[in-house]
Amino acid sequence: MSDDNLTPTDVAVACLLPLIIFVLGYHLLDKPRLSFVDIWDIIKGPSKAFKDDEPGYFSVQRAISSYETYLSLSRDEVDSMRRSYVKLGRAHKKVGYDLGYTKKLNRLENIIKSNLVVTDAIAALARREFAPELVDTPITSGTKGDLGRVREALKHFVRDWSEEGREEREVIFSPILNFLSQTSAAQRRGMRVLVPGSGLGRLAWEISELGFQTVAIELSSYMTLALRFLMSPSTTQQPNQHTIHPFASWFSHTRSNDHIFRAVSFPDVVPRQKENFQLVEGDFLSHRCPPLPDGNPNTENGYDAIVTLFFIDTSVNIIATLEHIYSLLRPGGIWINLGPLLWTSGGQARLELSLEEVLNLAEMIGFKIHDGQNHDRVQRCSEEASQVSNRSTTIECEYTADKMAMMRWIYRAEFWVATKEKIA
Ligand SMILES: C[S@@+](CC[C@H](N)C(=O)[O-])C[C@H]1O[C@@H](n2cnc3c(N)ncnc32)[C@H](O)[C@@H]1O
Repeated sequence: MSDDNLTPTDVAVACLLPLIIFVLGYHLLDKPRLSFVDIWDIIKGPSKAFKDDEPGYFSVQRAISSYETYLSLSRDEVDSMRRSYVKLGRAHKKVGYDLGYTKKLNRLENIIKSNLVVTDAIAALARREFAPELVDTPITSGTKGDLGRVREALKHFVRDWSEEGREEREVIFSPILNFLSQTSAAQRRGMRVLVPGSGLGRLAWEISELGFQTVAIELSSYMTLALRFLMSPSTTQQPNQHTIHPFASWFSHTRSNDHIFRAVSFPDVVPRQKENFQLVEGDFLSHRCPPLPDGNPNTENGYDAIVTLFFIDTSVNIIATLEHIYSLLRPGGIWINLGPLLWTSGGQARLELSLEEVLNLAEMIGFKIHDGQNHDRVQRCSEEASQVSNRSTTIECEYTADKMAMMRWIYRAEFWVATKEKIA
């Protein structure tokens, strides 16, 4: 048969056959199951925008480099917005000009420059605090993803550490803090609480303010460098010392330019290094509970409480995450969770479970779950939610929202408390 007679089906079969044989071979040899994503990765190679021997997405090196290149990465974006405007015909360009659109883009560029005071200071502090051999690794030029992570950290300053973020914080912090506050102040001093995926650290900080021995653990250096910037007396000395314009880069859902270009001051309180607050910069899944301190009345080691806020759905493997939470708790210890189930889609999360499945999984692992009781601001499960589960409580909340935007993304997050049962 000549090439001319080949149909598209023939070509597809010819291309797919070796792949099918390869996958079948794997199964027959009893090798680990390959997911579609694994297979796709094999075919196209790793999808990283940088070389394999370079530090990872959330490393100190990459975060420093991203904070340092915030201006150039942002400028690239403004330039492309300018190029887009210039593509308008002459008459419409004139209308855009008369509306002040070119001035708006200039204003955006100036605002990006003013954000540099904070982004540069975060990077400079990191360069002072980390060993040169760690921070001097060359990094391939930044990507949109890196810029996104810097912007995300800036928005977290608002949510976690500004007066403007207070309302959003209170809705999600109150159920957790109210539950923990049921423990007497005297008992709290001897209790250890772990906050995995602590982000910019405000919840963990509030838990430590209640008197608990608190460990915040965070993988992303974008977050930990920003928190270091707040905690260091060399960079942050007083409330509302810093100003950023965190909403400037997204022009959608805007009522007025002044809204998106507004400045937000932070921090509303100045966090300082103190004896009962520890920040661990690393992977929660590799974290081990430190030995029991002298005088602790418990006979078995483990955290008294683990608090996850908007965290568990970031897991690649939710089973491993819940098993690890369980293993880090002492018998009788509690796991408090509040958050949605926004799985990393596209097959990155090994499992994308429903609420019902997550709660069943927790019970299979050995947790006893309840809804954390009623508290101020906590509403009982809505009708439809309670059909799925009466083991948790629905909390309507937002996450790093721009409260002046024309759009609101409301999560109907779930709150529950689970106990690691003591074995009789
Ligand atoms: C959606 S954010 C929530 C942050 C914080 N809990 C809050 O509510 O602001 C999830 C955080 O978990 C962190 N994270 C994800 N996996 C982690 C892991 N294995 N160890 C430590 N942190 C992790 C991410 O870097 C991110 O900052």
